[in-house]
Amino acid sequence: MAKAKFGSRIGLIAATVGSAVGLGNVWRFPAETQSNGGAAFLLIYVVCVFILGIPLMLAEFSLGRGSGTDAIGTFKVLRPGTKWWLAGALGVLASYLILTYYMVVAGWTTEYFFQSLTGSLYDGLQPGADAYNKLDSTFHARMENYVCSAWNPLINTFVMIGINIAVLIGGVQKGIERVSTWLMPLLFMLLITFCCVSLSMPGAAKGIDFFLHPDFSRIDGTVIVSALGQAFFSLSLGMGCLITYGSYFPKSTKLVQTALTVSMLDLLVAFLMGLIIFPAIFSFGLDQAELRGSTLVFVTLPEVFSQMPATRLWSTLFFLLLMVAALTSTISMAEISISFLQDRYHRSRKAATLIVLLPLFVLSSVCSLSFGPLADFKIAGMTIFNFLDNISTNYMLPLGALLTSIFIGWFAPKGFFRKELTPSLGKDKPIYGVIEFLVKWIAPPLILIILINSLIANP
Ligand code: TRP
Repeated sequence: MAKAKFGSRIGLIAATVGSAVGLGNVWRFPAETQSNGGAAFLLIYVVCVFILGIPLMLAEFSLGRGSGTDAIGTFKVLRPGTKWWLAGALGVLASYLILTYYMVVAGWTTEYFFQSLTGSLYDGLQPGADAYNKLDSTFHARMENYVCSAWNPLINTFVMIGINIAVLIGGVQKGIERVSTWLMPLLFMLLITFCCVSLSMPGAAKGIDFFLHPDFSRIDGTVIVSALGQAFFSLSLGMGCLITYGSYFPKSTKLVQTALTVSMLDLLVAFLMGLIIFPAIFSFGLDQAELRGSTLVFVTLPEVFSQMPATRLWSTLFFLLLMVAALTSTISMAEISISFLQDRYHRSRKAATLIVLLPLFVLSSVCSLSFGPLADFKIAGMTIFNFLDNISTNYMLPLGALLTSIFIGWFAPKGFFRKELTPSLGKDKPIYGVIEFLVKWIAPPLILIILINSLIANP
């Protein structure tokens, strides 16, 4: 069978943006920004995106397109007979771990979508500060009750896994591309609308200050490694995802332009989310400690929506789009393993999809239960969910990115990277030297220092 390719330039960009834009921007970014000191985190995050994220994205695209095969196969094709394929294997493993807990949060979005649609999310709450402060009727209490219960979140997770199976069996072009192309622009429009609402609320200035006015004394090893991990997570880097998508790119794709478009749109979504969440947090007095972390946006956003006319409509639309954004990301993660099984073991698309997704019914359930019934089961002091998130994002992704940059900078066949980049840059443009320099000389030592530093700080 001929290798599947993306059908059009716009479809290709939409699918790659679809992979990048997801819960990482909407759910993880605000939570990480909040717990790492606000603007200082944002600053380092942006630096990481520019000097590490974009060059690494180009490296992954080039590896995928140049070799035309999956995340592990790439290394075997370009460096046969060596152990480099293990770098790809690390990526496949990391992607699977992330997929396991990501599916749980994706499940939460389906719950919030249905509750918005039926209106039950907003039932029993009257506008006005006092009503919100009664504990049993707050969005906070509702979210906590929901995630800590056993069955509800499990059912939603199963729904999400089912939708993934259906879309993935449809294959690259029909499934992924079609869904992404028309929903992403809609997401942008919604976010801009919410931004206007949030920024016009009383008390917004305090939130803006927290998000945009850096307090440099907050910067330490943990903040830096979290920003680095978040940058890789959000751009879908460090685990072969964009190698896999790169292998679906036709030769004519201009990699530099594609990488810039994808990373800037991804950054923009995260930035807009910050502008929505932080003014709202301060304006509603939600900046207490117990609201930090995973449940943050699921508590804050309904507050914002309830300030708008047609609350349920906005809320339904938003959670629907968030579901789709999560879906286009889970699809891209599952695609790494599926593509590997197809290319290497010649499995049919259907068999590969089932082999990859069926075990999640068990594994994601365990993650989901770690909020409630399994909350006391701790690994290194963290719940199963937090442990998986921490180890995969803060350690495995940077390690994967480190190996990828060393590989493309030092071990790939001579001239390989330049050849892949040439169509987008023309011959001998100085920018090529900059990209090569960043990948070869800046990325490896910088990522290594950050990793070692955080290992020393949190052994
Ligand atoms: N980038 C996605 C998000 O922000 C998540 C994701 C998809 C991902 N594919 C990935 C993260 C590959 C790391 C590696 O939601």
